[in-house]
Amino acid sequence: MKDARKVAVVTGAAGAIGQSICRRLLNDGIDLIGIDIDRKRLSELENLLGIKTICTDLDELDGLPSALGDVGTVDIIINNAGILNAEKIIDQSLSEWDKTFRVNLDSALIILKTFLPGMIDRRWGRVINMSSYAAKCGGLTAGVAYTASKSAMIGLTFSVARECAVHGVTANAIAPAYVMSPMVSEQLSPRERDNQLKAIPVGRFCEPEEVAHTVSFLASPLAGFITGEVIDMNGGLQFD
Ligand SMILES: NC(=O)c1ccc[n+]([C@@H]2O[C@H](COP(=O)([O-])OP(=O)(O)OC[C@H]3O[C@@H](n4cnc5c(N)ncnc54)[C@H](O)[C@@H]3O)[C@@H](O)[C@H]2O)c1
Repeated sequence: MKDARKVAVVTGAAGAIGQSICRRLLNDGIDLIGIDIDRKRLSELENLLGIKTICTDLDELDGLPSALGDVGTVDIIINNAGILNAEKIIDQSLSEWDKTFRVNLDSALIILKTFLPGMIDRRWGRVINMSSYAAKCGGLTAGVAYTASKSAMIGLTFSVARECAVHGVTANAIAPAYVMSPMVSEQLSPRERDNQLKAIPVGRFCEPEEVAHTVSFLASPLAGFITGEVIDMNGGLQFD
């Protein structure tokens, strides 16, 4: 009997990387549930790709379990939603720190708590968490809350990988740098953009489709021996 189609939940689905992930996974024959706060872009995506979507604010953690209540079976979790925060340590406000952690990290925990039990029961699953090169380098243009939240995303990935390998569920993170998106085109000053472009050895920014390609690879059946890995996508900014 042919395997049933896998189902993936993608957070931040309406964003630059999220949209590319949705397109790519759909092409791979995976059914999708896209989650985002941006109702307009989410419904455009729904019309364009015919996927299911949930419009919810990942900053509202108390409401998240009920927003996810009708989703049903999920095989692949892609915790991709994120907000950038440029506040450096002396200026870091606690309220922005908390918000950055709620959206970038805590919501991922709730999504994992919701869907991991089913994946464990069915003995197959993929978790892909979007970290950042900021976690590797201490943040170049990114601030301390963003950097710390993306570092914690790697710790979360390692914990899931450690606990769930035995149940057939892998967990990996991706650490991209400077992907062409509003985070680069709008949230960096022209000077920051020029400086970073000069510093990236491959001489260009990353494309969202390249990140989606890595997600597709990690979600694929033949990637089942890879777990607890952080895949760098930084154009040669750092080797390790
Ligand atoms: N663009 C880059 O250079 C870069 C580099 C490293 C890591 N990342 C990470 O990749 C991921 C995707 O980023 P992107 O570049 O596509 O950015 P983006 O801003 O285009 O997408 C982020 C998406 O998350 C959604 N979102 C934000 N806050 C939310 C909330 N409270 N509730 C629900 N949805 C919310 C936004 O509406 C948006 O659609 C993020 O986690 C980001 O930190 C991006």
